[in-house]
Amino acid sequence: MTSQLPDLRTQQVDIDLGDRSYGIVIGAGLLDDASHYAGLPRATTAMVVTNETVAPLYAERLIRVLKAQYPQVHVVTLPDGEAYKTWESLNLIFDALLSHGCDRKTVMFALGGGVVGDMTGFAAASYMRGVPFVQVPTTLLAQVDSSVGGKTAINHPLGKNMIGAFYQPQRVLCDLEVLKTLPERELSAGLAEVIKYGPIADMAFLDWIEAHMHELMARDPAALAHAVRRSCEIKAWVVGQDERESGVRAILNFGHTFGHAIEAGMGYGAWLHGEAVGCGMVMAARLSAALGLVDEAFVARLTQLVQRAGLPTVAPVIDAQDNVGRYLALMRVDKKSEGGEIKFVVIDGRGKASMRGAPDALVARVIETSCQA
Ligand code: NAD
Ligand code: GLY
Repeated sequence: MTSQLPDLRTQQVDIDLGDRSYGIVIGAGLLDDASHYAGLPRATTAMVVTNETVAPLYAERLIRVLKAQYPQVHVVTLPDGEAYKTWESLNLIFDALLSHGCDRKTVMFALGGGVVGDMTGFAAASYMRGVPFVQVPTTLLAQVDSSVGGKTAINHPLGKNMIGAFYQPQRVLCDLEVLKTLPERELSAGLAEVIKYGPIADMAFLDWIEAHMHELMARDPAALAHAVRRSCEIKAWVVGQDERESGVRAILNFGHTFGHAIEAGMGYGAWLHGEAVGCGMVMAARLSAALGLVDEAFVARLTQLVQRAGLPTVAPVIDAQDNVGRYLALMRVDKKSEGGEIKFVVIDGRGKASMRGAPDALVARVIETSCQA
């Protein structure tokens, strides 16, 4: 397939985790370029995991390139959507692996967005106690965040991403060309995670995103390439210091404590993960201001940027009777909670983030303000 994009040079960001290190390859047209699959573990079988939306768009191309390297290539196609990030879908993957007699050397390929990537990673972590897997992320969100760093999971009705494992892929292949078919709403969702990296780690990147939001929304290839690369560099730097989130990695959850409550409270899939994170970042910035860590001007700046990315900034009412109570209850089951105390990632407006608790009354005020904003 010929590329419609300018001939952007392929770039690589390395994630340094000792014997679990790997490369994140970023470029246009990688999907069916055999050179990017060289050096992966050898095996008799490859198993492609994808979903019913992505399969008709890209599965054939991936299968073709894998067939040159693996004698048997199988595919399992999952139902599409956050609502299907469940035990039932995970079992479909295990059913496929077992019914095809896949052995412990089988290499799995996650072809899709964060939902497919997180589930494939979890299946790879547990099938025969661990088989290698490769991330081939096809959404902006997955390219800038979920495919990198080895967090894998499924949802539980009581909490998001509650069942999972840390398990690193062998390689991440970010083909920028596949972003051409991404629905606009999904592009915006991915931009939420791009914006995230500014306030937590790199104010110059935040300035760059502000200056190039128009190009990003228009899917300008050079702008997307820079956004994916810089996001992956920041994520690789954070994960390289704290793979299993015993400290600094928690900053990558900026906006996620509020965001996960929105996702669970609205029912998985009603708000996209990136939409909930976008609104959640505005709420977390408001909380940071209420704690005296950042000024109101910064909250306004971030709110405007999230809006320009096409993302919601007014929080939804998730319970008509006890909205604040429901938010607090959902946030208490967040993985960052300790002894029932909710922990928030807060920012200082100068590119640094930290984690801390906050009085319920203050959090309640932020929720009330955010639902009316
Ligand atoms: P998604 O996987 O649901 O993909 C979004 C939609 O886009 C889906 O309908 C999908 O079928 C479709 N799609 C994918 N690629 C496409 C393409 N190229 N063209 C057209 N349509 C395409 O959602 P997402 O935003 O990619 O990922 C969200 C998930 O990622 C959440 O479950 C979230 O918890 C998880 N996540 C994980 C991490 C991590 O570190 N593991 C980080 C952030 C988010
Ligand atoms: N997306 C949060 C993390 O990977 O830690």
